[in-house]
Amino acid sequence: MLNKKDQYVVAVVGATGAVGQEMVEVLEERKFPVKELRLFASERTAGETLTFQDRSLTVQLLTKDAFAGVDIALFSAGEEVSREYAPIAVSAGAVVIDNSAEWRMNPDVPLVVPEVNAEAVAGFRKKGIIANPNCSTAQLVVVLKPLHDKAKIKRVVVATYQSVSGAGKDAMDELFAQTKAIYTASDIETKTFPKRIAFNLIPHIDVFMEDGYTKEEWKMMVETKKILDPKIRLTATCVRVPVFIGHSEAINIEFEEPLSAEEAREILRTAPGCLVIDKREPGGYVTPYECVGEDATYISRIREDPTVENGLVLWCVSDNLRKGAALNAVQIAECLINRKLIQAKKRAA
Ligand SMILES: NC(=O)c1ccc[n+]([C@@H]2O[C@H](COP(=O)([O-])OP(=O)(O)OC[C@H]3O[C@@H](n4cnc5c(N)ncnc54)[C@H](OP(=O)(O)O)[C@@H]3O)[C@@H](O)[C@H]2O)c1
Repeated sequence: MLNKKDQYVVAVVGATGAVGQEMVEVLEERKFPVKELRLFASERTAGETLTFQDRSLTVQLLTKDAFAGVDIALFSAGEEVSREYAPIAVSAGAVVIDNSAEWRMNPDVPLVVPEVNAEAVAGFRKKGIIANPNCSTAQLVVVLKPLHDKAKIKRVVVATYQSVSGAGKDAMDELFAQTKAIYTASDIETKTFPKRIAFNLIPHIDVFMEDGYTKEEWKMMVETKKILDPKIRLTATCVRVPVFIGHSEAINIEFEEPLSAEEAREILRTAPGCLVIDKREPGGYVTPYECVGEDATYISRIREDPTVENGLVLWCVSDNLRKGAALNAVQIAECLINRKLIQAKKRAA
């Protein structure tokens, strides 16, 4: 239960983006104790309006003076903006919760998924920043954590099926425009993605690294270790699919101890942030379309892997804009409040 005695001045940086707009919605839905909400973006969309609690708020241009009096700054405007402006926000007295990859692996910045390592938020004091993981990592660790507690995970092999909203609003527009172009026999334009995404899929997200993995795959590896357990070995293949919202993952897990599919199902049924829908019949599983606007990570297709000792295979889907970004960020802010780690600034009446 959120302590709502104090009210906070909250800034959303990147408010007009796919994640930023969801943040504004989540703050309202969860009745976050907002005294004042300030919205920021670049000159591209500054001046636009967004609705919060039936009020129309004008998005302002992000400047160095934006953070005076701000208690909590939620950033989702990309790495460059976070690199430059997060320290400015901290100097102005705000706690930053950052969605970009900029600070995630900094040893002085906690990387937090509240269902998994809520206690880590206390480490925010070193830099004044808390990082949100990559969207595909967030839903993965929500599922792995309760299973790891029971039977200790040794190794994970994961294939992702990631929606275009994970690449932002321009990417969503691109899928829409390409789909329309195909139906109207017009020229297909490719800008955000390296190849056509409509009626296709692309086994490449973020840049390539020297070892042949993509950075998205590397992020899943290192972030899982940082959030859950450095001993877990993980290999990922990340694939972009023509779905607007909702990431899916096929996860193969090898444990130290035996764990049956039935036991795993029972554990996940009561695990925080998890919902199990797993009927072994047509339609008895959750697809990304069905998780849009939902907070939970849905788990289906839980079964034993007979090809390894102590192996399980499962399927999970989650709304990447929510658990993968906006919801997780707001949950982190709630943790800070509930643990009395921040206080609203004293203001003159
Ligand atoms: N989408 C996801 O599922 C997801 C999940 C986890 C993390 N993230 C991370 O969250 C961040 C935002 O992602 P997104 O998907 O919301 O992207 P997006 O839809 O492209 O939105 C980007 C937002 O940042 C603003 N912005 C860009 N440059 C700016 C600048 N120089 N100054 C101020 N504002 C600026 C944009 O405003 P203008 O339009 O005015 O430029 C827009 O509001 C990225 O770092 C991404 O990696 C995204």
